[in-house]
Amino acid sequence: TSLRASGVTRVVPKAKSAAQILPEASYKVAVLGAAGGIGQPLGLLIKMSPLVSELRLYDIANVKGVAADLSHCNTPSQVMDFTGPAELANCLKGVDVVVIPAGVPRKPGMTRDDLFNINAGIVKSLIEAVADNCPEAFIHIISNPVNSTVPIAAEILKQKGVYNPKKLFGVSTLDVVRANTFVAQKKDLKLIDVDVPVVGGHAGITILPLLSKARPSVTFTDEETEELTKRIQNAGTEVVEAKAGAGSATLSMAYAAARFVESSLRALAGDPDVYECTYVQSELTELPFFASRVKIGKNGVESIISSDLEGVTEYEAKALEALKPELKASIEKGIEFVHKQQ
Ligand code: NAI
Repeated sequence: TSLRASGVTRVVPKAKSAAQILPEASYKVAVLGAAGGIGQPLGLLIKMSPLVSELRLYDIANVKGVAADLSHCNTPSQVMDFTGPAELANCLKGVDVVVIPAGVPRKPGMTRDDLFNINAGIVKSLIEAVADNCPEAFIHIISNPVNSTVPIAAEILKQKGVYNPKKLFGVSTLDVVRANTFVAQKKDLKLIDVDVPVVGGHAGITILPLLSKARPSVTFTDEETEELTKRIQNAGTEVVEAKAGAGSATLSMAYAAARFVESSLRALAGDPDVYECTYVQSELTELPFFASRVKIGKNGVESIISSDLEGVTEYEAKALEALKPELKASIEKGIEFVHKQQ
């Protein structure tokens, strides 16, 4: 019998059950900011993963109840709670993946950059602890502005002498999830089949869906391209406005972050076929950080897929040039923040 489990095709004798070929639940995942709007549903989705042995939840408050609640789900992972900086080191020791959704979300009228002053400091202090306690872990940064918080994390890790660019990821999965959904709706396609690469960064015009590279291959009129691109770029604001002061995307974000965690765990488990769009250190353009499709393996980023940027449409080429100054400024702002603190 040939079956596909976790993306790995293996031939197994008939007598063996599917459970025997699944990778063991052996990975430890920490969520920092676990009691928040994203953290709670993300914890739930990670608790559902058959690959996770320990789910460690950290926040500055309210995490005990979240952990008690999740611990009653009869899935393999053990749930542990950690409250406040004194317990952060224990939360992080030995983990394989650290996911960071800690920080404040947007309110109507705010840009992601408006969050910089608060979230930059939060990410800085959390990454210092990551560097001290689990420098080998995959690090997933969700806290906005991702365009700046990832460079901040890189600088802190460099200062601590443990920076591995292959293991630091800005989570831009939600942009892909949204692009897939909106394109499927517009073109009446089966959602499961649609995959749209989204490159650049994770804010406003820096979010660049490459509709010409959508799979399955679809054609769009100029109006459709313009409308879909704008909708994907502003989808976060669509949610912020609908929530009217109660925060930004949390449920779809948790779904997207859980997908990225699952992809990372499959890569760690040896699946040779893991590709995700993510914001990483990159040489794809002249900018030091850039979101694109990457191949993820046991050691993190294995390769950055350059083909998506080849043969793009004129609209996409223009949008790519237009986003660079903003993305560059956001990257520099992050780097400066760390250097200013000395
Ligand atoms: P929230 O306010 O509901 O939750 C944030 C949590 O972080 C709270 O539980 C808070 O106690 C915790 N926190 C604050 N300071 C902390 C610290 N020093 N250490 C540990 N935990 C700390 O916010 P929400 O909606 O969960 O959003 C979190 C972040 O994710 C925001 O920055 C938001 O902009 C960002 N975001 C990113 C997206 C992406 O696509 N990358 C999409 C949506 C939101």
